[in-house]
Amino acid sequence: MLKGKVIVLGVTGGIAAYKAVELLRLLTKAGATVHAIMTRSAMEFVTPLTFQTLSMNPVHTELFNLISEREIGHIALADRADLFVIAPATANLIGKLANGIADDLLSTTVMATKAPVLIAPAMNVNMYQNPIYKENEARLKDHGYLFAEPARGMLACGWEGEGKLQEPQAIFEAAAAALTGKDLAGERILVTAGPTREELDPVRYISNHSSGKMGYAIARAAWRRGAEVILVTGPTCLDPPFGLDTVAVESAEEMRAAVMERLSDSSVIIKAAAVADYRPRQRSDGKIKKSDQPLTLELVKNPDILGELGKIKGERILVGFAAETEALVENARTKLTEKNLDMVVANDIGQVGAGFNVDTNIAKLVFRDGRVEELQLMQKEDLADLILDRVIELKKGNRG
Ligand code: CTP
Repeated sequence: MLKGKVIVLGVTGGIAAYKAVELLRLLTKAGATVHAIMTRSAMEFVTPLTFQTLSMNPVHTELFNLISEREIGHIALADRADLFVIAPATANLIGKLANGIADDLLSTTVMATKAPVLIAPAMNVNMYQNPIYKENEARLKDHGYLFAEPARGMLACGWEGEGKLQEPQAIFEAAAAALTGKDLAGERILVTAGPTREELDPVRYISNHSSGKMGYAIARAAWRRGAEVILVTGPTCLDPPFGLDTVAVESAEEMRAAVMERLSDSSVIIKAAAVADYRPRQRSDGKIKKSDQPLTLELVKNPDILGELGKIKGERILVGFAAETEALVENARTKLTEKNLDMVVANDIGQVGAGFNVDTNIAKLVFRDGRVEELQLMQKEDLADLILDRVIELKKGNRG
C-alpha cells in the first residue's frame, strides 16, 4: 500500500516514544522506506538503534553531523520525503513549528519540506488544553498540517484525559490517508462485515468463520480515499478502524435494522458480511440443559438483507459477495440478477488462500453486462482497492 513511498518519521521526547517503534514497523511492513529523525530528548526514552534496526536506515539525530550531512543532509531528507509523520509530537515541537523556529534537525527538516506533515501530539491534558497550545495547533492546521488527534485515557503523568498518543494503527491509517488521492470524496459508503451470531440461549450461538477482514479492508480503503464510511459489523476480533463510524451488531436482524436505518445516507452499499441465513426459531432465556435425548434445533429463515436492498436501491451502487464451493460464476450471476446487484465479488472458498479467516483472496468480479473479471490471489487490502476502483467505474457508467 505504501510501496515506494519515503516517509520521514520524527520522534520527539515523550514517554509515548516507544509507540513510534510500532508505527515504524507498520509503515515498513506496508512497503514504505522510513528515515527516522530523533530529537535529543527522544533518545532519553528509546534508543536510535531500535529505529535503525527496524527501518534498516541510519537514524538522524544531529543537525550538523559530518557523515550524514555528506551522505544525505537534512535538506535532501526534506526533499525526498513523500510524507512527514511526527509521533509523538510534544507541545514544544508543535510550538516551534507553529512559530517558525528551526533550531534542531527535526524542526529544520520539517520547515524545509514541501511534503505533507502529519502530527500526532502526546502531552499532559492541561498542556493539551492550554490556549497557547491550541493557538499553535490551529495555526498549523490553517497552514495545512494534518493531525492525528490524541485519544482520551490514563496519561503517563497520572492525569486522565485528552493528550494520549493516538494508537500506532490509527496514526498509520492517517498516514496512509495522507498519501492517498481522494477519488471517493463526496461518496457515502455503507459497508457490512463479519459474521452474524444467532443466539440459542445466553451462552450459545450459531455463526460462521468470517473474520471480517475483507469488509474492514474495504471500509478502511474507502475512508482513505475520501469517502464518508459507515461500517456495520458483526462480532470480530478486529479493532474498529480509525476515522469512520462503526456500528456493532450481533444478529442478522440487528444488522438488517442497522443497515436500513442508514440506507438513506448512503450512495454505495457493499455487503461483505457473511450473514447467517437461518436463526433458531426460539431463543431460550435460560441455558439449555443437556439430556440423554437427541436435541433437535428448529431454524427459521433470516431476512435477506441484500435481496431487500436490491428492491429499494434506486440509483445506489449495490455490491454483494458470494462465497461458493461450486458453480461460482453461475451462482454469482443468479444472485446478481435475482437481487438486482451492480457487482458480485465471488469467492471460491474451496481454494487455498481464498475466503474466510485469511489475509488473501481469489475473487471473480461479476458485472451486470455479463463481464467476469478473474483476479489472481491477492491481499484483501489490494482487493479492497480494486473493488472500489470498479465501484467508481460503475458510478461513472451510470452517470454517462
Ligand atoms: N446476505 C444478506 N442477507 C442474508 C444472507 C446473505 O444480505 N440473510 C448477503 C451477504 O452479505 C452477501 C450475499 O448476501 O453479500 C451472499 O451471501 P451468500 O450466503 O453467499 O448467498 P445467499 O444469498 O445466502 O445464497 P446461498 O445460500 O444460496 O449461497
